[in-house]
Amino acid sequence: MLVAKELERLGLVAGSSGNVSARVQERGRPLLVITPTSRSYSSLRVRDVVVIDYEGEPMRGTLPPSSETMLHVAVYQARRDVGAVIHTHSIYASACAVAGLEVPPLLDEMVVYLGGGIKVAEYGFPGTTELGAKACAALGDRKAVLLRNHGMVGVGATLEEAMGVCRLVERAAHIFVMASLLGSPTPLPADVVEKERALYGMRLRAEGGPS
Ligand code: 13P
Repeated sequence: MLVAKELERLGLVAGSSGNVSARVQERGRPLLVITPTSRSYSSLRVRDVVVIDYEGEPMRGTLPPSSETMLHVAVYQARRDVGAVIHTHSIYASACAVAGLEVPPLLDEMVVYLGGGIKVAEYGFPGTTELGAKACAALGDRKAVLLRNHGMVGVGATLEEAMGVCRLVERAAHIFVMASLLGSPTPLPADVVEKERALYGMRLRAEGGPS
């Protein structure tokens, strides 16, 4: 909830665009807590958040869950290290997604905290399992992916991490756009990327992620 409000304060979502979820369990059953569909963040209250199972069936709460539920479920099923998923329509990330341009590994923190450059998933119709599958295919073992002609998805072991990922993606996409206006952005040297990827891999394995 606080994360959803913070996303709006930071300008990463507007109106009711975007959605936030966290993985939970009840008596060993995998569930997720997710923001309701079409609710503006400014009027969102704690009791509006819903708990659903992986088929989207409601367990708690009265409002319908986010229309992107299957996108969130796809990530939890593909990545056991992920405890929280945030989908935003932030401006610079969306600009790169619309242009179909991967954000190359330009900054050290991109490799250390996101796993490298930010790839663009093939287009998938909003709200479909197909969008989830395409997002996961491009996400791989990284922390963020751009959704073609749509927006971005950031993931983390915790909501705080997923929020940090969304902020870093928007900053990196902004820098990429600005550097492209100034000339051609130069990615980090390949040997630096390799060393930083090794650090990222160590962290990911400690979180139980893909090796
Ligand atoms: P919801 O309001 O259903 O969560 O959808 C918003 C959105 O961003 C769709 O991509």
